[in-house]
Amino acid sequence: MSPILDVKDLQTSFGAVNVLAGVSFAVEQGETYAMVGESGSGKTTVIRAIAGLAPAQAGSVKFDGQEIRGMSEKNLRPLRKDIAMMFQDPTGSLSPRLTIRNLITEPYKIQGMKDRDLDAEAKRLLELVNLPAHFADRYPYQLSGGQARRVGVARALALEPKLILADEPTAGLDVSVQGELLNLLNDLRERLGLSMVIITHNLNVVRHVADRMGILYLGRLVEEGTTEAIFDEPRHPYTNCLLSANPEPDPDARLERIALKGEPPSLIKRPSGCEFRDRCPVASDICTQVPQFEVTDGHAVRCLTPLHL
Ligand SMILES: Nc1ncnc2c1ncn2[C@@H]1O[C@H](COP(=O)(O)OP(=O)(O)OP(=O)(O)O)[C@@H](O)[C@H]1O
Ligand SMILES: [Mg+2]
Repeated sequence: MSPILDVKDLQTSFGAVNVLAGVSFAVEQGETYAMVGESGSGKTTVIRAIAGLAPAQAGSVKFDGQEIRGMSEKNLRPLRKDIAMMFQDPTGSLSPRLTIRNLITEPYKIQGMKDRDLDAEAKRLLELVNLPAHFADRYPYQLSGGQARRVGVARALALEPKLILADEPTAGLDVSVQGELLNLLNDLRERLGLSMVIITHNLNVVRHVADRMGILYLGRLVEEGTTEAIFDEPRHPYTNCLLSANPEPDPDARLERIALKGEPPSLIKRPSGCEFRDRCPVASDICTQVPQFEVTDGHAVRCLTPLHL
C-alpha cells in the first residue's frame, strides 16, 4: 500500500528566512505520525505548506499518489475535502459570531454541498465527538477549552477526510481533558480509518497517540522512527535532551523551556556542519562535517556520533 502522504525535500523560505530546509516524511494509511520540535522549528509551517496554505518553493507533496505542491486553489478545492486541518489555538480560529451548528457545518457550505441537511449533520458530528446535541445552538465563547477542541475535531471530520493535520491539538488543556481528547482521536482514527499528522510540543501526547514520530530541528528532521524506538533508544543528542528533560506527568512541558545550551541559531545564516553542534552536549571536531540522514533498522538519524548505535 502506498503512503497516504509522501513529503519529499519540502523547502520553504519567507524572504531570506529559510524555515524549512528540506523536510521528508511519509504517513501510511491509518497511521498517526507525530512531529515534535521546539517553538520556531517550523512545525506549523510544515503542515501549512502541505495544505497549500504556506509557500513551498521546492520539494514534493504527494497525497494519495497525486502531486499537490504548487497546485492552484481551484485544483486543490476538491482535495480540501480529503485533507482536514485542525489549527493551533482552536478558540481563536472558531469564528465567534457563528453558532456551533454553523461552525461545524460550514465546510459543507464552502464545498457548495447545498443539499445537505445541516441540522442532521450537526447532530451527527456532535455525537461523533461526544458532545450533546443541544451544543449546536451555543457560541464558541460558551465552550470550555476541551469542548472547543472537540468542536474543532467535529468540523475537521465534517467532510469525511482521509487525513487530518492537527496543530497542537492538546495545548492549553488540563491533563485529564488532554487524555480525553487523545482517546477521542485514537478512537476516531480506528473507527473511521483516518491517517493523522499531529504536531506537538508535548512528548506525553506523542507517546499516547503516535505510531511513528519525527524530530524537527531548524526546519529539518534530525531523527525519525517508531515512537517506541525513539523513546527507548533516542539516537540524536537533541532528542535525548528533549526526552531526558521531559518530566513524565507534566503535560505542558514546553520544549523551549528545556535547558539546552544557547538559543536556536538564525535561520537567515544557518550554521555550517551539524546545525546542532553549538548546543550539543556531545559535539566533537567531526561535527564540523555535514551529517546525512541515515537509516538503520527503520530508525533514521542525522548525526555523525549517534547514541545507542
Ligand atoms: N508567514 C511568515 N512570514 C515570515 N516568517 C514566518 C511566517 N510563518 C512562519 N515564519 C517563521 O518561521 C519559523 C517557524 O515558524 P512555525 O510557526 O512553523 O514554528 P512552530 O514550530 O510551529 O513554532 P510554535 O511551536 O511556536 O508554534 C519562525 O521563525 C517564524 O517566525
Ligand atoms: Mg506552531
